[in-house]
Order: sequence, then C-alpha cells, then structure tokens
Amino acid sequence: MSGGFSTCRSVLITGANRGLGLQMVKDLAKSNERPDRVFATARKPADAKYLESAYLQPKISNCARISPTSEELQDLARSNSRVHIITLDVNSQTSIDTAVQEVTSLVGNEGLNCLINNAAIAIPGELETVTADNMMKVFESNAVSPLMVTKAFLPLLRAAATRGSGMGIHRAAVVNMSSSLGSIQLNWGPDVTFRAYAYRTSKAALNMLTRCLARQLEAEGVLCMALHPGWVRTDMGGPTATLSVEESTSGVLSVIAGLSEKDHGQFQNYKGETLPW
Ligand SMILES: NC(=O)c1ccc[n+]([C@@H]2O[C@H](COP(=O)([O-])OP(=O)(O)OC[C@H]3O[C@@H](n4cnc5c(N)ncnc54)[C@H](OP(=O)(O)O)[C@@H]3O)[C@@H](O)[C@H]2O)c1
Repeated sequence: MSGGFSTCRSVLITGANRGLGLQMVKDLAKSNERPDRVFATARKPADAKYLESAYLQPKISNCARISPTSEELQDLARSNSRVHIITLDVNSQTSIDTAVQEVTSLVGNEGLNCLINNAAIAIPGELETVTADNMMKVFESNAVSPLMVTKAFLPLLRAAATRGSGMGIHRAAVVNMSSSLGSIQLNWGPDVTFRAYAYRTSKAALNMLTRCLARQLEAEGVLCMALHPGWVRTDMGGPTATLSVEESTSGVLSVIAGLSEKDHGQFQNYKGETLPW
C-alpha cells in the first residue's frame, strides 16, 4: 500500500462483514499508513450466520463460508479504536439514512474521504434459467443501491472535497467495486462461456453509473472510478478462483491509495491496469 491512506482521514466500506470488504478493513486497520477512521458497514453486523445472498458458485451444502465472517469484524473493532462498525443494509433507504447520521456524528465537518461501494450479490442464471425477479434483485443490490448510498453520503464527500487540491483519497473518492464480467467489450469471442445475465448486466450498469457520477462530480473534486478486484476466493468467487482475498485487497488498496486525477472516471483492475468498458 502506498502512502495514500495516511493522507485520508476516513474510509467507509459497504459489505464489510466478510469477503473482500472484511479483508480491506483488516488491511487498513493494521497498516502503518492507516486512516483515522474505518467505517466497516454490514447489514447484520452482529450475526455471523446471516446468509441471504445467492452466489455465483453453487452453495456449499452445510453453508460453511470460505471467507471469515462478522465475528472477526467484531473482534477487530473491539481491539482497534479506529474501526467503527455501522449497520447498513444498502437496499434500505432508512438504513442508509441512519448510517449517514451515525457517520456524520463521528466525522463532523471533516466529511468522508473515501466511500467504497463493495456490497453486492450474485445470482447464477443463464438464458434458460434467469428470471425477472432475479434480475431485479441483483440490479437493486449491485447498481441501484450503490447509487443511493453515494447520493446519501454526498454531503459528507463534498465536505471532505472542500479541503486540498487535485483528486484522490486525500480529498474525496467514490470507488465502485465492479467486475470484468461487467465489461461489454470483454464479453465477446469463443472463450467467453460464463453468462450470469443478472450479475453481468448489473455490473455494466454500475460502470455506467460510475461514469455518470464522474462527469457530474468532477467539478467538485470528487473522484469516481470502477475497480475490478480480480477473481477471488470468497463466497462469491468460489474456491477455485485464482486470487486469495489477501492478494486481491493488497492490490485493490494500493490502487485506491494511489488514485489521482488520471484515474477519475476510469475502470481498472486490482493491478491498476485499465479495463475496457
Ligand atoms: N470474488 C470475486 O471473484 C469478485 C470478482 C469481481 C468482483 N467482485 C466484487 O467485489 C465485491 C465483494 O465481493 P466478495 O467476493 O467479497 O463477495 P461476498 O464474499 O459474497 O460478500 C458480499 C458482501 O456484500 C454484502 N451484501 C450483500 N447485500 C448486501 C446488502 N443489501 N446490504 C449490505 N451488505 C450486503 C454481504 O453481506 P451479507 O453477509 O449480509 O450477505 C457481504 O458482506 C462485490 O462487489 C463483487 O461483485 C468480486
């Protein structure tokens, strides 16, 4: 991780009770160049057994998790005063509004420097099996909710953006956890066999949202970008994925730490390489 996080006072991560979200909180908490506050949000932070999302990979029969759960997040917050657990169901406007109030009461006029829209779901579905209900559920969680969360935290991001110059997490940034599966250009050719209609289209929509936000918020100095974490061994990525959570978040956090004007409105992977939309 580069020095970027030492210049960033606050980070908020959605879906931080397991998978990549939790690992980002762990990495940030132990880093020497850590922000003053890490808001680790989860819809049911106290319940390690909560399991509602459907995953790209078939579920493991006994519902055992590949990645650690909220118990670890609770332990982390108990042992590290910089980590604040906030309840946030990204699909509930009431929950979003309450979370904004809680964060506001802690950061005050400083605002929020970095919002990471990480929470998402994946429901498998080929043409033969995809349903309208599944499409709507995945769109809600993966595209609509990140927009609503960003809208609600905008006053705090704007407050943080009033200080400093240039762009990056020293000022204000929105990072949308996307996926190469959302790239329209990459979804072409004989080697592409993975369909997942709902997930792919929801991430393509998230990418478009990222560009819309980037255009609109540029003048106010709020950086917006979409980030692909690689194929990772989480509940969503499954056990055969190529990267460990540690490998992925190490790259993801390095990219976020080094964000500047040149990355605004871009789609990148965890190595900082530009991906085609
Ligand atoms: N793993 C990969 O290979 C991969 C590849 C490309 C992109 N990504 C993206 O990276 C991000 C993290 O993925 P992951 O692999 O860590 O997934 P994961 O292990 O399935 O974790 C998903 C997280 O999102 C949370 N979540 C889902 N719906 C929510 C809601 N309504 N409100 C609040 N939290 C909610 C889950 O909380 P609960 O425990 O409450 O369900 C969980 O904490 C996602 O945006 C994903 O699309 C992952």
